[in-house]
Amino acid sequence: MWFQGKGLRTIAKLYVINERRIMDTLAPDYVAKLRSETAKSIDWTSSLKILAEYFPHKAESLAWKRSGNYQVDRADQRRPTFRVTCARADERIGEASRHNFKSPDAAVQFGLGIADVTGWRTDLKDPDIDVLLHIASDDVMFGIQLTQEALHRRNVVALGRTPLIGTICYSLAYLANIQPGDVVVDPMCGGLSVPLEGALNWPAAYFLGGEMHEQGVQNSDTNLRSVNKGHGKTISVDILRWDVTRLPLRSASVDVILCDLPFGKKVGSPLQNQVLYPKALHEMARVTRKETGRAVLLTADKGGLKTASLVFLSFYLCAFFSPGKILKFRLCKETRHGRKQSWCTSTRVEFG
Ligand SMILES: C[S@@+](CC[C@H](N)C(=O)[O-])C[C@H]1O[C@@H](n2cnc3c(N)ncnc32)[C@H](O)[C@@H]1O
Repeated sequence: MWFQGKGLRTIAKLYVINERRIMDTLAPDYVAKLRSETAKSIDWTSSLKILAEYFPHKAESLAWKRSGNYQVDRADQRRPTFRVTCARADERIGEASRHNFKSPDAAVQFGLGIADVTGWRTDLKDPDIDVLLHIASDDVMFGIQLTQEALHRRNVVALGRTPLIGTICYSLAYLANIQPGDVVVDPMCGGLSVPLEGALNWPAAYFLGGEMHEQGVQNSDTNLRSVNKGHGKTISVDILRWDVTRLPLRSASVDVILCDLPFGKKVGSPLQNQVLYPKALHEMARVTRKETGRAVLLTADKGGLKTASLVFLSFYLCAFFSPGKILKFRLCKETRHGRKQSWCTSTRVEFG
């Protein structure tokens, strides 16, 4: 597909937006109207043309090729299939000003309306047309998905318990501003998803992944072999088994730490994080280079990370007595994604 390999490393799905409207999504009959009014008022011709252009093999099943119209005869056995996915967010303050419906309800009603008008059949598994209903407070977009496979599914074949999707792995590495020759370490690498994404996109840097559990090390090995096979070359990644709280690395030898920390949900617990995080941060700070060393950490346990950062108070004190130690610690960038993805907090930490 044309969009593969085009540098869209942080994009999971691509859509053609057919229309955008400001709507009263708080109206009690909003969802009912999605079927009775909204679906009827949308002309899908332009976005379906684009879909057919990029998926010529699908064009036969997309009706206008035969009839010149996307509305089809219900008796036609070859009429196209579709499904609707509703993505919804409402950041408005106060219960009364929030949506009083659930995303699946909106998707079902909009889908019923589309079927009424177009004659398309529903297929929730492998549809010809993937319709998007995107509702952000009052801002509503109607679109059609261009990507068949989500683009974030890449690199890893051995998934482990908490595989991080490729788009977020790329984002972590991007935030770290990796330079040619940098030594980049993921000290809790799980199945190696972050170092693999990094090595593929920053080939002039050296990547090292470490993991405590044997299964994670094995998964890392499997994933590295799979990526090397897929790309027909050997990428610059090494794997070690270690404990992040006792890293077998020299002090001030690492340029960048990238780490998807255990959130304390599937792996560990918030209580365990209270012990693990300060020790891990301490080791990360020790091994990173003075002045230029930096780390990008991902966790949902924001409180745990902030508390752990108190460990750096000792570095402030140390700094007075030992100029070679880390002088300061600051949380310099914090990104909270939308309400739905609020599990994801990425924090860039600068040591120096
Ligand atoms: C959130 S997962 C990382 C997942 C990884 N990014 C992936 O996509 O597979 C955190 C990892 O830290 C590992 N871990 C937990 N405690 C550790 C420790 N003390 N030293 C090294 N690794 C540890 C866990 O085994 C787990 O694989």
